[in-house]
Amino acid sequence: PPLEEILSLHDFEAVARRTMSRRGWNYYSSGADDEITMRENHNAYHRVWFRPRILRNVGTVDYSTSILGFKSSMPVYITATALGKLGHPEGEVTLTRAAAKHNIIQMIPTLASCSFDEMVDAAVPGQVQFMQLYVNSDRSRTQKIIKHAAERGVKALFITVDAPQLGRREKDMRTKFEGAASAQQSQGGDNFKRDQGAARAISSFIDPSLNWSDLKELMDAAQGMKIILKGVQCWEDAVMAAEAGVDGVVLSNHGGRQLDFAPSPIAILPSVVSALTARGFMNNPLRPRFEIFVDGGVRRATDVLKAVALGATAVGIGRPMIYSMSTYGEEGVSKALQILKDEFEMNMRLLGAPTMADVVPSMVDISGLNAP
Ligand code: FNR
Repeated sequence: PPLEEILSLHDFEAVARRTMSRRGWNYYSSGADDEITMRENHNAYHRVWFRPRILRNVGTVDYSTSILGFKSSMPVYITATALGKLGHPEGEVTLTRAAAKHNIIQMIPTLASCSFDEMVDAAVPGQVQFMQLYVNSDRSRTQKIIKHAAERGVKALFITVDAPQLGRREKDMRTKFEGAASAQQSQGGDNFKRDQGAARAISSFIDPSLNWSDLKELMDAAQGMKIILKGVQCWEDAVMAAEAGVDGVVLSNHGGRQLDFAPSPIAILPSVVSALTARGFMNNPLRPRFEIFVDGGVRRATDVLKAVALGATAVGIGRPMIYSMSTYGEEGVSKALQILKDEFEMNMRLLGAPTMADVVPSMVDISGLNAP
């Protein structure tokens, strides 16, 4: 259908299912095992309800915010998803350009189809980019990647910690990897297993021995870039991350692609916030701000507003970005972001929150959340 007929982020998924190549659809849409976590990621948002306020003068609403100290037009960033060219021949640079147009931040994936430099070169002057990092068993490669990222102006490194091994994504395993990815192969050297679907084929270089004692070395190498752990799944690990001195965590289960029955990030957010607050890591003037992000199943501005109300700085959006890219290219991604902006505008009015600072815990009711 023409882009004008797309009304929500869900629509992009429905269209992508019909228009994408089988291999691309299978790789993007798959989750681990029975895909229970993948579905629960979004479903858990259905158990959080608003407590809207009235008569708050919502003549103008401002949904802009600051993410790790960088301005963003809304509390949303494009998270890292591998293999953009499985969806669109131009790949991830379409995301870079749409992010620029809407003043939001793109997280560059280690395993992009475009080269790292292509994605940085596609950015406009001043555009903020973060980078997602898979730590290689060959640490000298990782050191080189970090150094290059810092030199090219990347502002933050999101170290993926939920994937010591790639999850079992059966839909994807049914399609053989036929080499759609080329640039990212330089990340892994010769270590590829080519017969188990796209995910397995590109990920065999990831170091499963990565542990807490490695963090210092990565932080030392970061040359001023912020360090965030992506893939934290319980409050204990969020506390350990804060104690280790990183700048934040992403509560994420990799879009339900890793451990099936890992909890939805929105369900664990309240316990993470209260554990960090109790230990003085949140809202502490004596410490740099520790930021919490969530990703997984975010499809509406109302989902984002719930996460922000519960203490998240911003949320990452994955599949809707690459589904919209796959069918409509940069225009599609741009439309998806515009839909979110329009939803923010309206829903903040209806919620009685003129700015992001007004989106506070008392605006949500989590009594039905059944948090683990
Ligand atoms: C991902 N994700 C991911 N994460 C990461 O750290 N490195 C990666 O290479 C990838 N690759 C990737 C590919 C595809 C096709 C998907 C769908 C996801 C996970 C991603 O960053 C994020 O956690 C989820 O996508 C968020 O869930 P939604 O928004 O897709 O529901």
